[in-house]
Amino acid sequence: MKTSAVQSASMLIRSYPIISLQIDKKRLEIILAQLESVIDQAIAGDIAEFGCHAGATALFIRRLLNSKASTKQFYAYDSFEGLPAKTIEDASVSGSDFKAGELKVSKHDLLLNFKKAGLRPPIVHKAWFNELKTKQLPETIAFAFLDSDFYRSILDSLEIVWPRLSEGGVIIVDDYMRSHLPGATRAVDDFFANSPIRTRHQNNLAIIRK
Ligand SMILES: C[S@@+](CC[C@H](N)C(=O)[O-])C[C@H]1O[C@@H](n2cnc3c(N)ncnc32)[C@H](O)[C@@H]1O
Repeated sequence: MKTSAVQSASMLIRSYPIISLQIDKKRLEIILAQLESVIDQAIAGDIAEFGCHAGATALFIRRLLNSKASTKQFYAYDSFEGLPAKTIEDASVSGSDFKAGELKVSKHDLLLNFKKAGLRPPIVHKAWFNELKTKQLPETIAFAFLDSDFYRSILDSLEIVWPRLSEGGVIIVDDYMRSHLPGATRAVDDFFANSPIRTRHQNNLAIIRK
């Protein structure tokens, strides 16, 4: 990755507030630097976030696309019902943390945050990932950020994104190796278990380049 990618991502992060606790500066910097490298390398396809919540990361994705004058479409997905129920793969020492319905925000909240920031909103679909229809999904994806906390949710989004990801495209999965959300690590490891693809991780992000 070029140094300039890191610099311009950090400049954006220094210039604007992070509107929720769902992401921090360090991870945001990594996400944006990877996105910028995908754009600089002219990797074909659109941008997607699975688990967009109120838009803390999505606002910066849009700012970066604007700063690069990118014409890529930006899609954002969420149940807007909060988290689903955990499955056995999500069981952790923190036990009852992260209950079904937690992290609920509305699609209106997300759109309002884009309006307040004076930014064009992404194409937003309110749905559980496993209920999304083909016509609601980009045909080709260059970059995807998967941030949905639980095993089944992350697996569902990987199953959607991977076949659509261009060669050279990047997937970043949040919460990798985070002990209180073990489903995230299990989903990534299970999905790529029989594949030659190597995932690397940094600051609790799994970074996967096709
Ligand atoms: C940690 S938040 C995402 C934070 C967001 N990426 C940000 O940077 O602000 C997780 C989101 O994933 C959504 N989610 C979890 N599982 C989902 C599923 N199976 N289908 C749709 N949305 C899901 C939740 O509603 C929640 O808004």
